[in-house]
Amino acid sequence: METVTVNLGKKTYTIEIAFNLLSSVGPKIRALSKGEIAVIVTDSNVGPLYAKTVEASLKAAGFKVEIITFAAGEQSKNLHTLSTIYAALAKAGVTRSDVLVALGGGVTGDMAGLAAATFLRGIDFVQIPTTVLAMVDSSVGGKVAVDLPEGKNLVGAFYQPKAVYIDIEVLQTLDPRFFYDGMSEVIKYGCINDPALFELLEKTGPKQVPQYLAVIIAACCNIKARIVERDEFDTGERMVLNFGHTLGHAIEKAYNYNKYSHGEAVAVGMATITAASEKAGFTKAGTTERIKELLTLYHLPLEAGITEEQMADAVRLDKKKKGHELTIVLLKEIGTSFLKKIDFKDVNKYI
Ligand code: GLY
Repeated sequence: METVTVNLGKKTYTIEIAFNLLSSVGPKIRALSKGEIAVIVTDSNVGPLYAKTVEASLKAAGFKVEIITFAAGEQSKNLHTLSTIYAALAKAGVTRSDVLVALGGGVTGDMAGLAAATFLRGIDFVQIPTTVLAMVDSSVGGKVAVDLPEGKNLVGAFYQPKAVYIDIEVLQTLDPRFFYDGMSEVIKYGCINDPALFELLEKTGPKQVPQYLAVIIAACCNIKARIVERDEFDTGERMVLNFGHTLGHAIEKAYNYNKYSHGEAVAVGMATITAASEKAGFTKAGTTERIKELLTLYHLPLEAGITEEQMADAVRLDKKKKGHELTIVLLKEIGTSFLKKIDFKDVNKYI
């Protein structure tokens, strides 16, 4: 088992990474919570596969268990579904001492986390992420949110979980496309902070990677934990986690979120921005080639077929903008990243 601690004073928590963890989460959660009720929030894909195992473990640890299941997919991550979760929590008689268990991918973790942050002004929650993307990114660090018709993640909070339990075993049922989707974020961590991780990914390739998954996921969680410890509320350094994301979000949006997955769009974003910054002399020569080769090895796209102007327009609408400025993330070389403020009129130079 690998463990990573996120040190945030009274909000400190542990991420456990192991095989077959689902059947033993009950006693672990019991050790953190004196609650009577544990509510599992899950979706229609993950629930039928894994909710029973988690339920049995929680019951054996003395919890009364409720399961709330919503229709799988980003289109459920909205205020309407959130209100159905609130109603189910109220109906179950959940009190402030009870605990919510988010079992699923990023949509589940983000939305259940926001429900936990706000129901009764905050109840405890734990994350059990079931996709690579949620394991290495969204379940760690306390960003919780739902989407509005006007944009993604526009209503949210910073609310840390009490623990994160990562069971590698569940990745066996993950659609290969979404395995690679998550590997895009893993590659991102290598790019921004960890040349050894990048080299390991180059050496292993997708066939051998499953045997290193615990180590790889722990490496990503460690990087994220250290960054979140220094910048919990995303006012500075945490922005490096957005490497490739400004262009990535633009690509996802240009296709109305139904052609490229998040990781695929971020892959195009990382390749595109590094090519531009290498050309501008900010990035060591040869870096783009290495990134492109690694993305291709993990079946990720390098381009998305939208014009420079479409990308620039979408970037100008990015929610991370301030006034006429936008902060972008560039690499000096593999493993070393930095933030650069650019003016809107210069956006095209970075595409
Ligand atoms: N997903 C980026 C962050 O947590 O800051």
